[in-house]
Amino acid sequence: MARKTLNVGLVGCGFMGRTHSNAFRQVRTFFDPGYDLVLKAVCARSGDAARSFAETWGYESVETDWKALVARPDIDLIDIATPNSTHAEIAIAAAKAGKMVACEKPLGRSAAESAAMVEAVEAAGVPNMVWYNYRRVPAVMLAKQLVEEGRLGRIFHYRAKFLQDWTISADLPQGGAGLWRLDAAVAGSGVTGDLLAHCIDTAMWLNGGIREVSAMTETFIRERHHTVIGQVQPVTIDDASAFLARFDNGSLATFEATRYARGHKALYTLEINGEHGSIAWDLHDLHRLEIFDHRDPGITRGWRSIHVTDSDHPYMGRWWVPGLQIGYEHSFIHQMADFLEGLETGVTTIPSFREALRTDHVTDAVLRSARDRQWVKVAAGGA
Ligand SMILES: NC(=O)c1ccc[n+]([C@@H]2O[C@H](COP(=O)([O-])OP(=O)(O)OC[C@H]3O[C@@H](n4cnc5c(N)ncnc54)[C@H](O)[C@@H]3O)[C@@H](O)[C@H]2O)c1
Repeated sequence: MARKTLNVGLVGCGFMGRTHSNAFRQVRTFFDPGYDLVLKAVCARSGDAARSFAETWGYESVETDWKALVARPDIDLIDIATPNSTHAEIAIAAAKAGKMVACEKPLGRSAAESAAMVEAVEAAGVPNMVWYNYRRVPAVMLAKQLVEEGRLGRIFHYRAKFLQDWTISADLPQGGAGLWRLDAAVAGSGVTGDLLAHCIDTAMWLNGGIREVSAMTETFIRERHHTVIGQVQPVTIDDASAFLARFDNGSLATFEATRYARGHKALYTLEINGEHGSIAWDLHDLHRLEIFDHRDPGITRGWRSIHVTDSDHPYMGRWWVPGLQIGYEHSFIHQMADFLEGLETGVTTIPSFREALRTDHVTDAVLRSARDRQWVKVAAGGA
């Protein structure tokens, strides 16, 4: 079969620019998609940064203005790996220019911003996806398989948390490179749109829609020096966020995220409790899925730890031999492989912009609930 080429234009060369570039380079060798990905151009505001990144990762050319990148006729896919405040403008322009669009999470800074992005890609009819990469960790994909097979029976509880500790110091400034996450104007919100967005995306994919939420948030350090403005400014992001939720299927949930959990760097955990069994997953041990099945014979019944490395486990047949595990970066490679397969088969890769909008409706409801100290119904919209 003749191979096609797909020319990628990446915007942003920070943390996610690196994970995506690695995925673009590895997907061909391990997944043999029908497309050859060509790293056509990378865009950063600094020409030096763009050139250095291009040299490291093998991009053919550089741009210093994303508008110039979007205008280029030799780019098929615009990949957005920049801070949240830039997502909507770039994605909408890219869609209008007829480009496929891949965008980092959260899709927009609010559901209203995300809805405009959904409208743009759907009006243009361009393939689109959002990088909620944790779905593509093989153990999480296996959890999805078990839930869909009905192994857990009726679901009663969903429990997720995402804990970090990197903003505890009051001396840490806000704004600018590396610290834009503390600036609400750029990030949209704090841990709700950043960390909880991941938890909510995985939760709704595994357990269906969230109907209503009751939340509390806190900003522990109320003022920080702003590196761009050059003055001490109020901090308006949520440093910590916790909420109760009721799913459409009647199950109850607790979600928690913070950047003030001393000792935790990126502890994303989830657990589902059903009538017949439970499953649990932990990002620090991401290649394992813990399973409990109450139907096992009594004397050997207990939690099992599945080392998700067999060739019949999701994606693992593409990697090494059974028993050898893979890591974080592979989740991005898997998502790109699925995207390219979707282009071949015409099946929309999930999460699409429309599906990711659902998460933004939940994060909006969480922030509103915390502000008003009330239960809030999640707005409809999204897939
Ligand atoms: N999927 C995940 O697990 C995950 C993890 C981290 C970050 N993210 C998301 O990825 C996005 C980027 O986060 P990051 O951690 O890579 O940030 P980062 O600060 O490491 O990198 C951002 C990059 O964008 C560049 N940039 C900023 N404005 C630009 C502009 N106008 N034009 C061109 N380049 C510009 C910066 O110079 C920098 O290179 C955010 O939306 C974030 O929420 C997702």
